[in-house]
Amino acid sequence: MTDGAAERGTPARVLLDCDPGIDDAFAIVFGCGHPGLDLAGLTTVSGNVNLGTVTGNALSVLELAGRPDVPVVPGSARPLLRPTLDAREVHGEGGLGAARLPAAQARPAPGHAVDYLIDTIGAAPGEITLVATGPLTNIALAVRREPRLTGWVRDFVIMGGSAGRGNVTPAAEFNIAADPEAAAIVFEAGWRVTMVGLDVTLQARAGPDVQDRIRKLGRLGADLLLPGLLGYRGEHAQAAGGAPVHDVCALALVAEPGLFGCAPARVDVETAGRWTSGMTVTDFTADPAARNALVAMTVDVPAFWDLVLDAYAAIPAAATASRS
Ligand code: BDR
Ligand code: CA
Repeated sequence: MTDGAAERGTPARVLLDCDPGIDDAFAIVFGCGHPGLDLAGLTTVSGNVNLGTVTGNALSVLELAGRPDVPVVPGSARPLLRPTLDAREVHGEGGLGAARLPAAQARPAPGHAVDYLIDTIGAAPGEITLVATGPLTNIALAVRREPRLTGWVRDFVIMGGSAGRGNVTPAAEFNIAADPEAAAIVFEAGWRVTMVGLDVTLQARAGPDVQDRIRKLGRLGADLLLPGLLGYRGEHAQAAGGAPVHDVCALALVAEPGLFGCAPARVDVETAGRWTSGMTVTDFTADPAARNALVAMTVDVPAFWDLVLDAYAAIPAAATASRS
């Protein structure tokens, strides 16, 4: 696995491909606040809500987090082959639960996410960690267009999939289910995918103790994190132990890999199954030569929340009172 921030000495340069999304917003803010991460750019993909909305959310969240300088480049508006599958029933129509952020001053950067990913990573081979927390449409298009991308990244980490059960179906997790063909291309591209899936993200829940700590985070807590968390709908809303914040786990692994227990495996994405489409079929006993993934299976939950909440506390908006 990649070195942590402490071993590296310099912050990890990260490109985040995302679909904010309540938990994507948690991840963006973490990327802005953790001293071991240098959030170099965001690309957006249709997922939790439509492309225009996730792009606007990304810009607004960056503005609240004090980083309006981070470029946001829109990408794919729909999956490669299938009709759009969104998660409005979980994240709400606006994508951020009950949070209502003002429209950002900044505009999306010109160009397309796929070009931006290829150009930015290609300009600094071996330096940039690519993290994906939405459907893998942009990443699949990028590796198809420029196969050398797989050798240019420092590391590639996704929130997606599961070695066990799914969440949109018994077999499939949302980010994979939304575009299984893209996910299959990405897992078969010849690089190692670090899969931070439901196996680990469902362990890191924001229970009442975490919510109390978020309440102390000024405007950041009051305007985004709490109304996001408490605005989760459906299954997440009543989840025992609090709602999970899946996407921040992927960035936390980049910042502090020692918090996670990971195992190498072969992961194949089911694209044909009538009941299992989008399943990440995970074989921990595969021939070592056939293994294409590192699968996160455990996380030190108290240390994870300390890491995340310390990063949030470093955001200037955590020290100012809410205007609302
Ligand atoms: C994933 O699906 C989305 O709804 C979340 O943002 C997260 O990326 C969890 O299954
Ligand atoms: Ca997401």
